[in-house]
Amino acid sequence: MKKLVVLFGLLVPSLVLAAGGSNVHLDKADIDRTDQPSLQRGAQLFMNYCLGCHQTQYQRYQRTFEDIGVPLDLGQENLQLTGEKVGDYMKSAIPKEAAAKWFGAPPPDLTLVARVRGADWLYTYLRSFYVDPNRPFGVNNKVFPDVGMPHVLQELQGVPYDQHEERMIDGQMQSVYVGIKADGTGMLSADEYDAAVLDLVNYLVYLGEPARLEAESIGRWVLVFILVLFVFVYLLKKDYWRDVH
Ligand code: HEC
Repeated sequence: MKKLVVLFGLLVPSLVLAAGGSNVHLDKADIDRTDQPSLQRGAQLFMNYCLGCHQTQYQRYQRTFEDIGVPLDLGQENLQLTGEKVGDYMKSAIPKEAAAKWFGAPPPDLTLVARVRGADWLYTYLRSFYVDPNRPFGVNNKVFPDVGMPHVLQELQGVPYDQHEERMIDGQMQSVYVGIKADGTGMLSADEYDAAVLDLVNYLVYLGEPARLEAESIGRWVLVFILVLFVFVYLLKKDYWRDVH
């Protein structure tokens, strides 16, 4: 019984973390890990809008470029904005202590964030910033309440406002959160913004499991091999049993 209580105690924080501290419905991130153009667009967004604060220091540029199908010289020219060597880990230049002071919390390394939070959470998080004058940067987030991160994609999305609807719940009219709507000043339409975030999430999912792409393509060849082997084994069996009957 005591063990059970301890186990439950260990489990609770991870359950709370998984829920992201709120009960907002998560939208499904319909990503395709084999879609290289999507991964390339995601990488470009990441280098431009995220790497300034968040590093992904467990992954090297070169490996990334090779995996997502970007020639090294093109990658270095267009995606590597920090002047490091192509064999370097992807670090951000921001000093950790200073960042913690500026934002109230240090921007965490994002190499494994997709494995911790999940793709759906990330997809919803990046589309759930909304104007909140009570917060230091003027924005808050529906799935990460009181987050320290500013809305860095505002120039793409526009200024986002949270939308409410009056609904009858338990015989009472209540104001229910139904989503975010941008004011139309962004560079992208609502659909284009969702597509861009999807690319970004696809890239983050790739980062969390870079060997997965390779494993999947090896897996296909293993299946082909087994099929071919099956044909030969079958012929062999027929041959062995021919004289037995
Ligand atoms: C100006 C600095 C800054 C930039 C740029 C930035 N972030 Fe953040 N981000 C933060 C800070 C600070 C936090 C920590 C917030 C907290 O704990 O309250 C954070 C938190 C996060 C988290 C939550 C991590 C977790 O699991 O707790 C994710 C995911 C994230 N950022 C993704 C991104 C992505 C994707 C981009 C690029 C589109 C980006 N960030 C750009 C500062 C930044």
